[in-house]
Amino acid sequence: MHMYKIIEKKKNKLELTKEEIAFFVNGYVNDEIPDYQMASLLMAIVLNGMTDKEIVALTLSMANSGDKLSWKENSVDKHSTGGVGDKTTLIIAPIVSCLGCQVIKMSGRALGYTGGTIDKLESIRGFKVQLDEDTLKQQLEKLNIAIISQTKNIAPADKKIYALRDVTATVESIPLIASSIMSKKIASGAKNLVLDVKVGSGAFMKNITDARLLAKTMVMIGKEAGIKTVAVLSNMDQPLGQNIGNQLEVQEAVSLLNGNGPSDLRELSITLASYMVSITKNINYEEALKLVVEVLQNKKALQKFNDLVSSQGGTLDLDNKAKYQYKVLSNKEGYITKMDTATIGKISGLLGAGRLVKEDKINYYAGIILNKKINDYVYKGDLLATLYTDKEIDLRNDYLNCLTFSNKKVNNNIILEVIRWL
Ligand code: URA
Repeated sequence: MHMYKIIEKKKNKLELTKEEIAFFVNGYVNDEIPDYQMASLLMAIVLNGMTDKEIVALTLSMANSGDKLSWKENSVDKHSTGGVGDKTTLIIAPIVSCLGCQVIKMSGRALGYTGGTIDKLESIRGFKVQLDEDTLKQQLEKLNIAIISQTKNIAPADKKIYALRDVTATVESIPLIASSIMSKKIASGAKNLVLDVKVGSGAFMKNITDARLLAKTMVMIGKEAGIKTVAVLSNMDQPLGQNIGNQLEVQEAVSLLNGNGPSDLRELSITLASYMVSITKNINYEEALKLVVEVLQNKKALQKFNDLVSSQGGTLDLDNKAKYQYKVLSNKEGYITKMDTATIGKISGLLGAGRLVKEDKINYYAGIILNKKINDYVYKGDLLATLYTDKEIDLRNDYLNCLTFSNKKVNNNIILEVIRWL
């Protein structure tokens, strides 16, 4: 087999075989295929697409390129395509684990304008995100839940290909994005999966048409790989909930588990958790929803979260200790109708909550609390948000520039669509 021939075939819009796909994935991981040939093939894929058969073959080849884990039939995972203020994992994982679903969540760190669950958990004093195999096993037996950082060699082919896509303008391709995400999920070994595909100004997918296609493609891959998969399309035209930033997001997650918290975060968390319970336990959505609401109301999910934190060595302290608090007051009147969510995420990063490059150090107390969101009516002088930071940087005007006002409300549902296992 020759890489040249494979590139040519894709250039001519012909379907690649399973063997050809395995050849270039393995060849690239083993340094037998150079970057320039791989980049050329990736660009041909971006331009000419892939059939479902090709997408599945690519996903499985990448999933098989490293360690493959396998959990029990009642194991369930959730994956979000990334947004701003998304702390749903901290809420959902304890809920579903209370209901007999096993959660072994391997999460990532923040990079760019989106946050990472592992950083959020590390904002809890003492919380250990790495557990050795025996400790993990014991914790799962006792609590049915663990949230850890990825230590295994999961889908190394995806890692290498993604790094190349990043510098060759070949990230934006539904077949490549879907296979990249799903290869990691398949190798991580959960038998049930709920995908939260974000759509809007703070998301990777800016419009519903692309998001729908991505969701359908990932659900199709899940089916072919024997993983029960549901995708929920959710609105990321504004940050999720009110708090952005690591410790501030833990605060909000705990508040929600305590029966408080903002309605968009509550609705999305309950919906995602209910689909996770429904597919894992083979019960209908309404039945699952009832169970989810019950463990929130009777605080069993909160107890599970507290047990998880202490089992992984953490001590919760919900006081924010940022040195400075800058209050952003409105200089306009009207309904907020748009929020530039990606820029708000970047502002939070600049305050100290995120990283521009992998080596940057996070300030766990930095972030933003939003007092007004889309469809709130605002008067001049109203408090829009508070910026928390240890730095002497004033980003209040940058925040104000992220908001658009109007005299009419706009459509603003959090759940946009659900794509079920086909
Ligand atoms: N996230 C991934 O894991 N892969 C992509 O290709 C894009 C986003």
